[in-house]
Amino acid sequence: MITVRVPAKVNVQLGVGGLRADGFHDLANVFFAVALGDEVTASAGEGVTLTCSGPDAAVVPLDDSNLAARAARLLAAHHGIADPGVHLHIDKAIPVAGGMAGGSADGAAALVACDALWQLDTPHETLLELAAELGSDVPFALVGGVALGRGRGEILEPLPVEGTFHWVFAVADGGLSTPAVFRECDRLREEAGTGSGDTDVATPDPDPALLAALAEGDAVALAAALANDLQPAAVSLRPSLAATLRAGTEAGALGALVSGSGPTCAFLAKDADAAAAVARALRASGTCRTAHATYGPVPGAAAV
Ligand code: C5P
Repeated sequence: MITVRVPAKVNVQLGVGGLRADGFHDLANVFFAVALGDEVTASAGEGVTLTCSGPDAAVVPLDDSNLAARAARLLAAHHGIADPGVHLHIDKAIPVAGGMAGGSADGAAALVACDALWQLDTPHETLLELAAELGSDVPFALVGGVALGRGRGEILEPLPVEGTFHWVFAVADGGLSTPAVFRECDRLREEAGTGSGDTDVATPDPDPALLAALAEGDAVALAAALANDLQPAAVSLRPSLAATLRAGTEAGALGALVSGSGPTCAFLAKDADAAAAVARALRASGTCRTAHATYGPVPGAAAV
């Protein structure tokens, strides 16, 4: 039996380029791994079966659409294993469909867990390629830390980072569909008359001020540089997020943004005590279902 712990992510910068012919958008995506995470346990089984525990277990799909099951099958196929046997249990803490790459995290964790259970010793580079096949955010969950994702987010370059940053995540009722949020981003751009295709929208670049803030461990400077091009789209689809963002800011957060495609909202705090206070204020505000204080960066998927 192998248990793998895997982090959630927040995008401290999510620069979204134009819509490409393949249906994806080119990104300048600065991923940041946080301690709020899932655990995936692989044990011997017949076929690929899934169970899930945790507060949101009831809304996690347990069929072959789950990225953990797809990861197990993809790894088996890569090694020519015709009849893979594994039971995967997901202990879920990452909000479901929340913009924190929880499904992607479980896919990455399942790759690592099955690789160990089946004693395959797959090279890290190969695991990264399989991860990119599973989804744009899966490779980062293997790598962790802080990294720049180019292309659709799967081409990763680790970034230097100093110290620990303290975060609060406000969890919304219900999720948002990532493709729907990207479509809304395109629609808002068309409405503004700027065009949404990759010939109209410049390919985004990482913000030098944001990279410097990470390298220097400067939370105030990072808070000022937080940027998410999907935020207007997420707020357009879920207007109540504006009140959540305001509540965390009024409670003393240094900075606030929607996490990825949302609807989870992320708040950067000065230190662990400030994060705990912001989380308490958000829980009391009535603008979210719950709020978690956590920290990062932390490493990617690894056996415990
Ligand atoms: O790669 P993944 O399966 O996570 O992507 C889900 C959806 O999100 C894609 O089908 C696409 O609609 C959207 N997406 C995008 N551009 C990206 C990543 C995802 O448009 N860079």
